[in-house]
Parts: sequence; C-alpha cells; structure tokens
Amino acid sequence: MLKGRIIFSMDEEIPQHVLLKISGYFHGIKIGYPLLLRKGIEGVKEILRKLEVDEIIMDLKLADIDNTMINIVKQLDFANSFIAHSFIGIDGALGELKNFLDNEGKKLYLLASMSHKGWNDEFYPYIKTVIKSLNPYGIVAPATKPNVLRIVRDDFPNKIIISPGVGAQGGKIGDALCNGADYEIIGRTIYTSSDPENKVKEIIKIQEEKINEC
Ligand code: C5P
Repeated sequence: MLKGRIIFSMDEEIPQHVLLKISGYFHGIKIGYPLLLRKGIEGVKEILRKLEVDEIIMDLKLADIDNTMINIVKQLDFANSFIAHSFIGIDGALGELKNFLDNEGKKLYLLASMSHKGWNDEFYPYIKTVIKSLNPYGIVAPATKPNVLRIVRDDFPNKIIISPGVGAQGGKIGDALCNGADYEIIGRTIYTSSDPENKVKEIIKIQEEKINEC
C-alpha cells in the first residue's frame, strides 16, 4: 500500500473497521489528550493493536519537571515518540527526559511553534537555542505559518519536521511538504469525512502532485 506523508492525528475515536482500512496509508498516528482521556491507556492500546503504522506519537505537549514527565512517559509504553514543549528548558526538565527516552530507544519531538494565531513567535530565538542544544529526533512546526516553517527548516536542515494545521486549521494539503516538512499531521479532515478512505487517497494524490511541483 502506498503510504502518504501523513501522520494521522486521532483526537476522536473512529470506527475500528475504518481505521483498519486506512491505517496502512499513514506513516504514523498521533494520539492526544482527548482520545487518551476518553479511552484510557488500555483503551488506546486496544485501538492501536492491529494497526500497521511505523510510529505512534504521543502528543501530550509535555511541559513539566523531569520526574513528572518521565513518570508520564513510563506509563505510555505503547508509544515510540513523544512531543514536548521547548520552553520548559533543559536542566531539570527536557535534558533528563531526553536521556530517559534515548535509553529506552524512543524519540523526542520538540515544538518550535504552535499552529494557532495566538502563539507568539517572538520566543523562537530562545526555542531555537533549546532545540539546538538538546538535539531531539524531530521538530513540530506549523503548516499554518509557512514563513516560520521555512525558517525552522533552514535552521535545522537534518531534522525530521512534522507539521500540523493542515486542512481544518487552514493549511492546504501538500504545502507544508514544499515548505520543509517531512510529514503533515492531519486529523479532522480525515476523521470528520463521510468517506475517510477516499479522503486519505485524495490527500496522498494531492501530496504527490505538490511534491512534484515544488
Ligand atoms: O484536526 P487537526 O488536523 O487540526 O489536528 C491537528 C492536531 O495537531 C491536533 O491534535 C493539535 O492538538 C495538534 N497540534 C497543532 N499545532 C501544534 C502542535 C500540535 O495543531 N503546533
């Protein structure tokens, strides 16, 4: 099955037979608080059990002291990757989290910027220093702000960049891939569609066309 450059953001439960049909098209699945709170850890594990994705990303946007963040990720052993806020800093927080995840063979993504309007990108110079010194596996940067996404790509040419804000939040499918993202994080556009399988196929086609053009 041809995989799209898609990380499916599953904030709502979708019927298991539909998920089984479409999961093969995704590089990864991103799970956030809404689904975790609704289904619980065992419920999420059950949903993920039969899926064929390369990466399960837990998006709790961690931003706490080291001990608390490590305590949280230990409980989410089904995930291979975790997203954390950069602003929380390194000593006593992200540094220890990164060491813990490295030892467990798991990946850390740091947020460079958020996709919503109210996020203040004036803090980016500080965030950039945190990302540079921590050297995480990947970075989250928004499809809704192409200029910011391009700056992040230029600053971090060798990092995996995953990009939310595609579809429901206004970013056009495929554009983030032309602006430096490796994968587009897409949620509502897929799970609120009346025909998620066709929607995913349509997204993959548009992504391919855009990549060929840029
Ligand atoms: O449904 P939609 O495609 O807008 O989902 C985007 C997902 O990406 C949501 O889970 C949201 O919490 C997350 N996200 C975001 N902006 C960021 C980081 C994560 O929208 N900067």
